Amino acid sequence: MSDEIKKGLLGIVVDETEVSKVMPEINSLTYRGYAAQDLCAKCKFEEVAYLILNGELPTKKQLKKFEKEERKDRKLSKTLLDDIKKFPKKAHPMDVARTAVSIMGLEDKETKDNSPKANMRKVMRIFAKMPVALAAFYRARKGKKIISPQKNLSFSENFFHMCFGKVPNKEIVKAFDVSLILYAEHSFNVSTFTARTITSSLSDIHGAITGAIASLKGPLHGGANEEVMHMMNKIKKPENALKWINKALDNKDVVMGFGHRVYKSGDSRVPTMREYFGKVAKIKKDKKFEKIYDIVEKVMINRKNIYPNVDYPTGPTYHLMGFDTDFFTPIFVISRITGWSAHIIEQHAANKLIRPLASYRGSKHRKVLQLNQR
Ligand code: CMC
Repeated sequence: MSDEIKKGLLGIVVDETEVSKVMPEINSLTYRGYAAQDLCAKCKFEEVAYLILNGELPTKKQLKKFEKEERKDRKLSKTLLDDIKKFPKKAHPMDVARTAVSIMGLEDKETKDNSPKANMRKVMRIFAKMPVALAAFYRARKGKKIISPQKNLSFSENFFHMCFGKVPNKEIVKAFDVSLILYAEHSFNVSTFTARTITSSLSDIHGAITGAIASLKGPLHGGANEEVMHMMNKIKKPENALKWINKALDNKDVVMGFGHRVYKSGDSRVPTMREYFGKVAKIKKDKKFEKIYDIVEKVMINRKNIYPNVDYPTGPTYHLMGFDTDFFTPIFVISRITGWSAHIIEQHAANKLIRPLASYRGSKHRKVLQLNQR
């Protein structure tokens, strides 16, 4: 066996999937064969969640049943709600998401059952409860009264309602829905691969999603959308942008929200999200971040030939919607639960323990000396 190392599993195909693919012939990310931007134009997030989990777009009747189930499962247990109120106010909401799904695993009567049907029921519960848990923390840490979920509101509307006590206008909700659709799935990215690796030991879905959330938190993955906002806040105003980005590149800094392991000449999700970022900026009558966005993007392409990824436009969009910066990656979580879950179910259906090899470069064999001889 050769000891050739592919660090970061660069270019290695490790398994098959039916969930999603970046199709070069249409230059687009596709879920179950549908282009993500086509789904954004014609569907609401719940339809896409159904598609990712079930393999087909829902009929009206199937969608109604799916939405009914999601809305029914939103309620948190009293234990979880009480725990959330006691979590440290300074805790990162990604750590809250990770802990909340672990607690859901302690409480779920079907935790040990990895059958496809039980897994789907558990997915629906995690999918429905995660936004509620996060919104509860959003308010609890500000000392505000926690708002109960409302069954007459869609997935996105309900999240706004529970965070802010009101639902914004339709265009803002649509922009949020679009961001969730674009975040829902992306094949064997770090967090999904983490979820599949955990699943491959026949562990349970709550454990796999807990691990996936920890993986998504990192700034090279989902955490980039928060880092983009920190960068824009550092730049402060459009007049500073050119100098700031040139200096960052001179210093050989990694610029967050740019670059991608799969896309080398542009992330196919960006044009759609950029359009909705523009719409939100117009509604909010705040063009500052758009101007900074365009300047930094231009320099990155001209000087480095590196293009933005989807975290670049989502960061300032969520900011304009009014979310705290440390809630940007948790929003990614509430959407990506669908992709992770589809992969966990797929892994269970055709499992092979994921166990790569390492090229050993440690000490040669040596004898252990007794403690008093060392
Ligand atoms: N800023 C500056 N230089 C970069 C960047 C960047 N954002 N991305 C790549 N490069 C350079 C990198 O320094 C390297 O240069 P050299 O060959 O001279 O050493 C070259 O481009 C190749 O990059 P790489 O790091 O080897 O590529 P990778 O496929 O291992 O990494 C990446 C991909 C996403 C980790 C990286 O582009 C990065 O760190 N980007 C910033 C973080 C980010 O935005 N992450 C979000 C990823 S996409 C959505 C998501 O998962 O949430």
